[in-house]
Amino acid sequence: MSIIDQLATIEATALAALAIISDAEALADWKSSVLGKQGSIAKLSRELGTLPASDRPAAGQRFNAVRTALDSAFAEREAIISASALQSAFANEAVDVTMPGRQPVVGRLHPSTRVLRMITDIFAEMGFQVWESPEVETDTLNFGLLNIPADHPARDMWDTFYIDTPPGAEKVLLRTHTSPGQIHAMRAHAPNPVRVILPGKCYRYEQVTTRHEMMFHQVEGLAVGKHITFSDLKGTLIGFAERLYGAGTKTRFRPSYFPFTEPSVELDVECFLCKGSGCRVCKHSGWLEVSGAGMVHPDVLRNGGYDPAVYSGFAFGMGPERITMLRHGIDDIRWFFSGDERFLQQFV
Ligand code: FA5
Repeated sequence: MSIIDQLATIEATALAALAIISDAEALADWKSSVLGKQGSIAKLSRELGTLPASDRPAAGQRFNAVRTALDSAFAEREAIISASALQSAFANEAVDVTMPGRQPVVGRLHPSTRVLRMITDIFAEMGFQVWESPEVETDTLNFGLLNIPADHPARDMWDTFYIDTPPGAEKVLLRTHTSPGQIHAMRAHAPNPVRVILPGKCYRYEQVTTRHEMMFHQVEGLAVGKHITFSDLKGTLIGFAERLYGAGTKTRFRPSYFPFTEPSVELDVECFLCKGSGCRVCKHSGWLEVSGAGMVHPDVLRNGGYDPAVYSGFAFGMGPERITMLRHGIDDIRWFFSGDERFLQQFV
């Protein structure tokens, strides 16, 4: 077969193969096997030298014509394939702009934090500074300086988590109440007057029940000065209760006992749900317990650096989880720190 006939066969075969190519990879293979340096056209063109000199110009022209035809057929197919690749990308990667967006999960404050902030806001407006004191305390600060010596029966009221310490070293514990903060605050201010609240976590090694957690919060309050009386304590707590539960809320003070206050009382507010007529929330008493309180015991004043002959003071301690339970009708304190989002999401 002559070179010109072979060229015609190569052209016909190549064009037929090109017509059915539908992807970019096969197209690249076709290009290198037909038009590449080692492709069929290049291989055949090397035989041009074997032709008689008079035939070479015409054969050369034919080669050029075939190459040009194949080049443009290739360009055409390449355009078709890339257009269809674009179309299928459009179809597969389409974005439906009418679809609703994903709802971002918004964090919120824990119910205890919310109530703690409400309580601190109320006392801050009354002129109390907000202080923090350590959660890990010595036995002396948690008990001894608060008038609760080692053999005092009142220690039964606070079952305690002790921390391992070397034999003979001072006992260290997780504070069972925020009252050691009273000593810290007094020692930092004495002999100047002091008016602080101390919110924070407390720990008690006790049976967990619907009303008792091992970890819970308290807000301690303390005011010490030269003419502080029981009336100041009453006025402060009644003012607080009215701010928290609404103007005109009825309150009552019941005698109680705490070793670090004398006299000691407990503050009740009229049940916000039944307005005193008795219901499930107030256990049919008409009253809700809100805070322990009293006049700072002279020994405790002395331990804080004040002379009880000159200075007097009042203190109180309340539990924000219990207050939150009463506000929202929560029947079990264990919900607070269970980490259960079904509970937490209800507080927006
Ligand atoms: C005290 O802890 C005293 N330090 C309060 C005090 C301070 C009295 C200053 C006088 C002067 P009590 O043990 O009652 O007292 O606790 C106070 C409040 O903490 C309770 O009314 C309750 O709301 C909360 N509380 C106590 N134990 C728990 C517990 N296990 N789980 C949740 N809340 C608790």
